Amino acid sequence: MITIRQATAHDLVAMQNCNLMNLPENYQMKYYYYHAMTWPQLTYVAVAPSGEVVGYVLGKLDEEAPADDMNGHITSLAVLRTWRRLGIAARLMRQSMLAMAEVFNAKRCSLHVRQSNAAALHLYRDTLQFNVEKIEENYYADGENAYSMRKYFNPEDEAKAKAKAAAEEAAKEGADSQNTPAATANAVVEAKA
Ligand SMILES: CC(C)(COP(=O)(O)OP(=O)(O)OC[C@H]1O[C@@H](n2cnc3c(N)ncnc32)[C@H](O)[C@@H]1OP(=O)(O)O)[C@@H](O)C(=O)NCCC(=O)NCCS
Repeated sequence: MITIRQATAHDLVAMQNCNLMNLPENYQMKYYYYHAMTWPQLTYVAVAPSGEVVGYVLGKLDEEAPADDMNGHITSLAVLRTWRRLGIAARLMRQSMLAMAEVFNAKRCSLHVRQSNAAALHLYRDTLQFNVEKIEENYYADGENAYSMRKYFNPEDEAKAKAKAAAEEAAKEGADSQNTPAATANAVVEAKA
C-alpha cells in the first residue's frame, strides 16, 4: 500500500532524485528546502511499503498574490515510472490543493504543463478539472510552449473571477473603441462643428 504524507527535510534528496529521473525541469536543493521550510503543508510524498519515495508534489503559494486573493501553485509533480497509473499523482495533487485551501485560504491552484505531456494533461484537465487559461509560448528552456492552467476550489469564486475579467475586458474594449481613427475623426468633426 502507498502512503501519502507531508514531506519532511529528510525526504528532499529522494524527491530531487525522483525529479531528476522523471522531468527535464530540475531544481537546486536549496529550492526544495525553500518550499519545505516556507510552505511545509503543501509538499507531499508517496511512499512505498519499502520506505522508498515513489512520487512527490512540490507546492507553494504565489508570493505576489494579495493576502485576500491567495493562489496556490504546483512547482513540480512526478511519479516513478513503475508506480504510474495507480492514482498516486491524483492523490498527491488533491492533498496539496486541500492544504492550499484549508491552511492558506487559497481560492485556486495554478500550474504549467508542456503541451506535449499527454499524461499530465489528462490528469490536470480530465481528472482534476483544471482549465487552460492561456498558452505561454517558449515557456520551457527547449522552446516548447506551456499551457498555463488553473483550478478554482469553489465555483462561486470562479464565477466572480470570470465576471470581473469580463467587466475589465468590456471596459478595455470601450476605451479602445474611443481611440480608433474613426472615433478620433468624429471627435475632430464634432469639435469643429
Ligand atoms: C503525469 C504523472 C505525474 C501522472 O502520474 P500517475 O500517478 O500515473 O497519474 P494517476 O495514476 O494519478 O492518473 C491520473 C489520470 O491520468 C491518467 N493517465 C496517467 N498516465 C497517462 C498517460 N500516459 N496517458 C493518458 N492518461 C494517463 C490516468 O488514467 C488517470 O485518469 P483517470 O482519472 O481518468 O482514471 C506521471 O506520468 C509522471 O510522473 N510523468 C513524468 C513527470 C511529469 O510529466 N510531471 C508533470 C509535469 S507538469
